[in-house]
Amino acid sequence: MPKDPPAPEREVHIEVRDLDMGYGDFVVMRKLGFQIRRGDVFIIMGGSGSGKSTLFRNMTGLVEPLRGDVLYGGESFTRAEPERREAMLRKMGILYQQGALWSSLTLAENVALPLQQYTRLAAHEIAEIVELKLSLVGLGGFGDFMPGEISGGMRKRAGLARAIALDPEILFFDEPSAGLDPISSKLLDDLIVELSQSLGATVVVVTHELASLFAIGTNGVFLDAETRTMIATGSPRDMLEHSDQKNVRAFLTRGGSGNPTGVGQ
Ligand SMILES: Nc1ncnc2c1ncn2[C@@H]1O[C@H](COP(=O)(O)OP(=O)(O)O)[C@@H](O)[C@H]1O
Ligand SMILES: [Mg+2]
Repeated sequence: MPKDPPAPEREVHIEVRDLDMGYGDFVVMRKLGFQIRRGDVFIIMGGSGSGKSTLFRNMTGLVEPLRGDVLYGGESFTRAEPERREAMLRKMGILYQQGALWSSLTLAENVALPLQQYTRLAAHEIAEIVELKLSLVGLGGFGDFMPGEISGGMRKRAGLARAIALDPEILFFDEPSAGLDPISSKLLDDLIVELSQSLGATVVVVTHELASLFAIGTNGVFLDAETRTMIATGSPRDMLEHSDQKNVRAFLTRGGSGNPTGVGQ
């Protein structure tokens, strides 16, 4: 009897191919290679200084790879002409680690920026979209506030509203919940998953918050500072159950919680 065919897999959306990354002569990581499928919530994991943000910047064009390639929908981003690259970037919503809002602009002005930069919409159309995006992140009516007048969690959500302004196909977040209390952090994670699902977006997120990576991650990669390369791929739960790499295990079971996945709680 022939075996059942495997379940159809979602298409590869993003591929990192044979990537070496670093700054000038300083190599942070070598030989990174992995695929992210459409609709994945992909977690970049690793200790502090392992190169998570550097990988993030290589994937979004802020830092150029030392070697290798990053592809979107099978097309090279690394080797793309500037105009193509700009078009590819337009489909990404990015929230950098220091991704602060412009402090001298209101929340509405911050969210309007990408719409003014990348579309030819009229001012009143932009204002409508801005209000919609702000309400999607629970900040309806806060458009006229300055970033300094609201809480850290609200600022992150305003950053999220800006990241989704252009209805991106891919959402990138570098440590979105860093510095937030556990409740705001949980709310932000829920919001990320909810918005990515309603946009049908693929999500790439750097986080070391165990509760969130187990809760939202469908796939991921572990960057090991000791060997300067990746030593595990797959969903964080699979890594926890199957990886025999001591650095992966130490990372995923840190904090001494007996049940870090929260399963059964
Ligand atoms: N702009 C930079 N120039 C030179 N070295 C950097 C730069 N940014 C980060 N690094 C170094 O690269 C390594 C990885 O940093 P980073 O990607 O920020 O790690 P992580 O985000 O995992 O904490 C660290 O040794 C860091 O000091
Ligand atoms: Mg970082």
